[in-house]
Amino acid sequence: MPRKPTTAPPSDTPATGWDEVLSAFGPDPHPPPAAAPPEEGSGPLLATARAALERLSTWVPIRSLARRHRRRIIDHLFALDARDRYLRFGYAASDEQIRRYALSLDFSRDEVLGIFNRRLQLVAMAHLAYGLPAPGDPARTMAEFGVSVLPESRGRGLGRRLFEAAALHARNRGIDTLFIHALSENRPMLHIATAAGAVVERDGSESAAWLRLPPDSFGSQVEQALERHFGELDFQFKRQARVLNDFVDSVAEVKSHFDASGRAAKE
Ligand SMILES: CC(C)(COP(=O)(O)OP(=O)(O)OC[C@H]1O[C@@H](n2cnc3c(N)ncnc32)[C@H](O)[C@@H]1OP(=O)(O)O)[C@@H](O)C(=O)NCCC(=O)NCCS
Repeated sequence: MPRKPTTAPPSDTPATGWDEVLSAFGPDPHPPPAAAPPEEGSGPLLATARAALERLSTWVPIRSLARRHRRRIIDHLFALDARDRYLRFGYAASDEQIRRYALSLDFSRDEVLGIFNRRLQLVAMAHLAYGLPAPGDPARTMAEFGVSVLPESRGRGLGRRLFEAAALHARNRGIDTLFIHALSENRPMLHIATAAGAVVERDGSESAAWLRLPPDSFGSQVEQALERHFGELDFQFKRQARVLNDFVDSVAEVKSHFDASGRAAKE
């Protein structure tokens, strides 16, 4: 017979009668604190916290890439076919052009963000290029966003998450406009940009999308720091898991080698 938890109230005590029973002992010397009224101006803070929580529920580990990731960046871009390279760069970049692009990435100036799978393959990456002049308005600061997701990982929101992360990084660097240059036929990219509030200007086969960014805040800085921290943790975790897997595989290989030679010796 299942045992009743000892912390549960006795079944013959009506659950609603407790206040009356307790009031017979006089006023509560330690009343629970009254709910604090919402502070003036806490609305935007609450909205930011709510948005951060929502993002957390669909969290994707995004990592800032560095020089040591160049090899993985090249492998990622090599895996794109001619059409994807055309969509990404505006022309069907050759392997040599991709290699030169990857070698020219300036990690100290720009931000390169990546998403790795469990095998530590770079399945998605974004390049946020800083230091571009804003056309017609030198007071504005602008960064350009470029992205690619491997075909087998598309449609899962990775492109959108990289776009949001890039917008957050740019905002925290004092950039007020995010610029995306895409071919007009690139519906998914233009969809991601317009869904975030970007204004798209079509010019024949090419389109330019402009997203105005709000100034940075304490919340946006914390969000970026958390994202960086958890992205790094996730990568280290995957690396350890891979080392462990490789170790288990090599033990299994050695064991099967000894089993085979033992059988051969018996025969
Ligand atoms: C563009 C690209 C990065 C998108 O990556 P992704 O991970 O598949 O994107 P997401 O899953 O985050 O989002 C795609 C969005 O486009 C929408 N979409 C897909 N195909 C669409 C189409 N034909 N028309 C309109 N919207 C479309 C999806 O519904 C989704 O929107 P939702 O989140 O509101 O449902 C990817 O297709 C890619 O790498 N393409 C090749 C390189 C490239 O084009 N780079 C961009 C130039 S900078």
